[in-house]
Amino acid sequence: MRTLTRGMKLVVASHNKGKVWEIDQLIAPYGLAAVSAGQLGLREPEETEPTFEGNARLKALAAATGSGLPALADDSGLEVDCLGGAPGIFSARWAGPQKDFGVAMEKVAHEITARHGWTSPGPRANFISVLCLAWPGGQTQTFEGKVYGRLVWPPRGGNGFGYDPMFVPDGYDQTFGEMEPAGKYAISHRTRAFDAFRKAVLGDLSAQPVMPNADRDAAGLHAAAANISTRDELKTFVRHLSADLERRGQPRVDLGTLMVALEDSVAEESTEPRWRTLAKALLAATEAKRS
Ligand code: IMP
Repeated sequence: MRTLTRGMKLVVASHNKGKVWEIDQLIAPYGLAAVSAGQLGLREPEETEPTFEGNARLKALAAATGSGLPALADDSGLEVDCLGGAPGIFSARWAGPQKDFGVAMEKVAHEITARHGWTSPGPRANFISVLCLAWPGGQTQTFEGKVYGRLVWPPRGGNGFGYDPMFVPDGYDQTFGEMEPAGKYAISHRTRAFDAFRKAVLGDLSAQPVMPNADRDAAGLHAAAANISTRDELKTFVRHLSADLERRGQPRVDLGTLMVALEDSVAEESTEPRWRTLAKALLAATEAKRS
């Protein structure tokens, strides 16, 4: 089995800023530099396989052969027992073209209601993540992680993304949306898949602390804004943005700058969730101030 070494470049086979950010957080302590398939201008293959493993492999292989570099892909989703494992590999697609997870969570809740599945303490579900590492020569390795729990309705909390606000992991009372990120990452499906990846592929590498810097902070804020679906997620985002400005000793953004940013954001023909548009406008206003 081939291993990765410190300083190597690894393509993260995704165009989703949130996913690229999360994977970068996981690999950066091992001295690996993440570059996204989007940054390299690689096309995003259609997820045509019937399994998480098949789709992870398909995405990783496309990025590895397209870039000539090792590539890491994640395919993940939510599986609800009383829905026969749905939404499963269709988890992202239930959110529609605008990736509105407010809509996707409503759909899950509705399907459970239709099957009289709202038992107490809540229907069983799990998140699953399959990571695939592909090499330019076509060799692949896959790693799986799961976290089990129950669903709640209505959704709770503004942290995380996707279906986080309706998932309570076993042994906890808070949803993933209510937990601090460190709490979620300690037990998440992606962390568990990454642990298996780390043991097999990062063999001798040891984790070293990654120093925060302005570029990493800005990338994190962009990733968060791009994944906002709900009002609570916007509220949490605003708190993080304020803290970031505070840390930088930035002056308050003036109303004129904010109005220009808002006007630019809403001028675009878009049906994305309005909370996300607002978050992007706020972020753009603070960046206009920076430059
Ligand atoms: P894909 O792997 O890009 O096809 O999409 C995975 C989808 O599963 C995401 O868009 C989310 O809807 C959902 N998902 C995966 N991991 C998580 C998680 O950690 N929290 C919440 N939702 C998740």
